[in-house]
Formats: sequence, structure tokens, C-alpha cells
Amino acid sequence: MGVLVAPSVLSADFANISLELQRAEAAGADWIHVDVMDGQFVPNITVGLPVVRAIGSATKLPIDCHLMIVQPDRYIADFASAGASHLIVHAEACTHLQRSLTQIRAAGMKSGVALNPATDESCLTYVLNDLDSVLVMSVNPGFGGQQFLPAVLPKIARIRRMLDEAGRQDVLISVDGGIDPATAPQVVASGARVLVAGKSIYGTSDVTAAVAKLRESCEGSIQRRE
Ligand code: DX5
Ligand code: ZN
Repeated sequence: MGVLVAPSVLSADFANISLELQRAEAAGADWIHVDVMDGQFVPNITVGLPVVRAIGSATKLPIDCHLMIVQPDRYIADFASAGASHLIVHAEACTHLQRSLTQIRAAGMKSGVALNPATDESCLTYVLNDLDSVLVMSVNPGFGGQQFLPAVLPKIARIRRMLDEAGRQDVLISVDGGIDPATAPQVVASGARVLVAGKSIYGTSDVTAAVAKLRESCEGSIQRRE
């Protein structure tokens, strides 16, 4: 299996979102990544349920919905109804992380945990059987177009090891923030399999070429891991 590419629509043109989604589909993207921000957990406000619903009706690709909001449990059922396939909550925003993950699965979605750059991966220790993906933030969340933080590379490797030792080889590690053809091979060589990318895909004029470049940049890195 190669890498999975999840374009983040945060850097897309929201006035032409159907077209932007078609461009991602035509480029062979695997998932569509939607960043929901509330102005409290992160210092920015983006989109909410109506936009997730609109995106869901305009694409056949799975929606990877990244909640950067406080108390995300309040909205789990609503995001399921809106069409999210994967619902990612931040460990830092969940007082009862195990319960949140259980509720996400019970609502029919894949469950994901996101970790800010400064968050230790040990918070995953007791939820390894409750999650379907781990989203490692390689920038402090809130904005697209920030610079990749290389300090997360050993963290990705440690999380991969934790998952493998727990028999969870099926869990995918996604990396989000500053992913481009220079940083993608580094995160893949460390154990990531899903590349979330905004600026390096939608910040270019040729989405198909950008997705292809991301995949090509990782070819050697995947072979080294297998
Ligand atoms: C950042 C978001 C990201 C963002 C990534 O808080 O979670 O998904 O869109 O954007 P780039 O790829 O431009 O760093
Ligand atoms: Zn994101």
C-alpha cells in the first residue's frame, strides 16, 4: 500500500468548493480533510456542520473531519449526520478521551485522535484499542501554510511502535501541517501513511501534479520501511 493523500480544503477556494473537490477527485486524492475550528481551542474560526454537509454532498471521497474545538462530544452525532467518515478529536480537548472515541465509533464513524506538537504520545496508551487513526500535528493547529516542525518525527516513530506492539498494525498515522514533497518522505520514513496537505496542494495551480509529486516524493521512503 502506498501513501494516502488527504487534501485539506482549508487552502481551497470556498466560493468554488464543488470545483475544488472535483479537482481533488481527478487528482486521485484518497480522502478530503476538513478543518473545523471554533476560535477557542485554536485562535481561528473556519467551518461547521452546514459546510461539512455541503462537502459531503459534493464528493464521493471519505471526509476526514478534524475537530479543533472544545468539548467535541457535544457534536459527535451531528457530524455523523453531516456525512463525516472519520471524526478526529484532539486529546487536549477531551476530558474523557476513551468515551469520546467510543461514541464516535458508535455513531458509525472511524475514530481518530489528534496530538498537538507538544503533546506526549503517552496519552494514547490506554486508548489503543479505541482508535482507528492517529493524527500527528506537525504545526500548532489553527492555520494553513505554517512551517513543518521536525521535532515530531521521532514522535511519529514512537507512536508507530506503540501501535505495532499493541497489535494495531491496521491503525494509520496521519501527519498534518507543512506537508510538501520535502517533508512528506521524512514523515513516511518515520511511520506515517496519510499525508494531509493544504498549501502544497491547493496553493498550486495544478492539483493533479501536486498530488502526484507528494506521492512520488515518498516512494523510496515507503520501500525502506517494508
Ligand atoms: C492546521 C490544519 C491543517 C492545515 C494544513 O491547523 O489542521 O489541516 O490545513 O495546512 P498546510 O498543509 O498548508 O500546512
Ligand atoms: Zn487538519
